Amino acid sequence: MTSRAVQYARFGGPEVLELVEREDPVPGEGQVRLAVRAAAVNPLDWKLRSGAMASGDAPPEPRVPGFDVAGVVDAVGVGVTDLAVGDEVLGKAVGGAYAEKALASVRTLVRKPAEVSWEVAAAVPVVATTAYRVLALLGLGEGDHTGTTLVVDGAAGGVGVMAVQVAVARGARVIGTAGEAHQDEVRALGATPVVYGEGLAERVRAVAPQGVDRALDTAGKGALRDLVALTGAPERVVTIADYAGAQELGVTFSSGGDPDEETRALADAVARLADGRLRAPTVVTYPLADAGRAQDDNQHRRVAGKLVLLPT
Ligand SMILES: NC(=O)c1ccc[n+]([C@@H]2O[C@H](COP(=O)([O-])OP(=O)(O)OC[C@H]3O[C@@H](n4cnc5c(N)ncnc54)[C@H](OP(=O)(O)O)[C@@H]3O)[C@@H](O)[C@H]2O)c1
Repeated sequence: MTSRAVQYARFGGPEVLELVEREDPVPGEGQVRLAVRAAAVNPLDWKLRSGAMASGDAPPEPRVPGFDVAGVVDAVGVGVTDLAVGDEVLGKAVGGAYAEKALASVRTLVRKPAEVSWEVAAAVPVVATTAYRVLALLGLGEGDHTGTTLVVDGAAGGVGVMAVQVAVARGARVIGTAGEAHQDEVRALGATPVVYGEGLAERVRAVAPQGVDRALDTAGKGALRDLVALTGAPERVVTIADYAGAQELGVTFSSGGDPDEETRALADAVARLADGRLRAPTVVTYPLADAGRAQDDNQHRRVAGKLVLLPT
């Protein structure tokens, strides 16, 4: 059987993405194949596509972008006992999510509750697992963190929206930065909004005269020095988007975590989405064939929220 997928065989702009008909991927040991219902766009997708993260000059083998996926199990690989054909799941794809059929390792999947839409299900795996991981690194893991003040730089972004809500639910006071247009959105998440950019430290001090305990940089836009100054030490800051700044200042750069830990985090986030303890991210959908436009809109912030591709 064949099905459609978006792929690229050379690095470059969104124009290198093409919609192709390909043989359905075959699930390996411990994997399932999903009939994809929704796949989300993350900044990593267009960073990889651009070649900016490639170590050599060689063009990639034809590669299907995307990690975040939600769909229905339509084939199971050897050794899979926890899931069966027809199960509705979400998680991270192996070998690309921008497709009608995608593979995923069972250990990274969680079941999709009926209360969570396909679009929202696809929108959460990367941002939720990242948010939980970095909060733990900041000492704001599961438990009560009343009395702790956290700054989240980039609070209206995919990761930021999750990190703010989870930290607030754990009792922390959160100060979230966003552009002028997204101040109300950050407030609605339970954080104190401030505008990002030049003069950030002064604006944060004005709303947190008692000081800041921890800071998370989700934006990678040059705020690390301010965040270290606000918290008083580089060990109190984590970034997921500024590798060079982290190296220079002694701040932790976090990327990737323990897969089982991430699956537990995802299950917790999904349970909270299902019963309303977490607000679903704002989702904007595109047809699969418009993956290039969706990536470009995300890269240039033309459209806010999580951008999600629908295969049909
Ligand atoms: N290391 C990891 O494990 C990991 C995991 C996930 C993501 N990431 C990286 O983390 C970054 C954010 O990902 P995302 O999915 O949250 O992206 P996103 O949804 O595109 O959000 C980006 C956010 O950055 C904000 N922003 C823009 N300019 C800013 C500035 N000068 N100062 C502060 N914030 C600014 C935007 O705010 P406004 O909309 O208000 O302008 C927007 O909300 C990306 O670089 C991504 O590659 C890393």
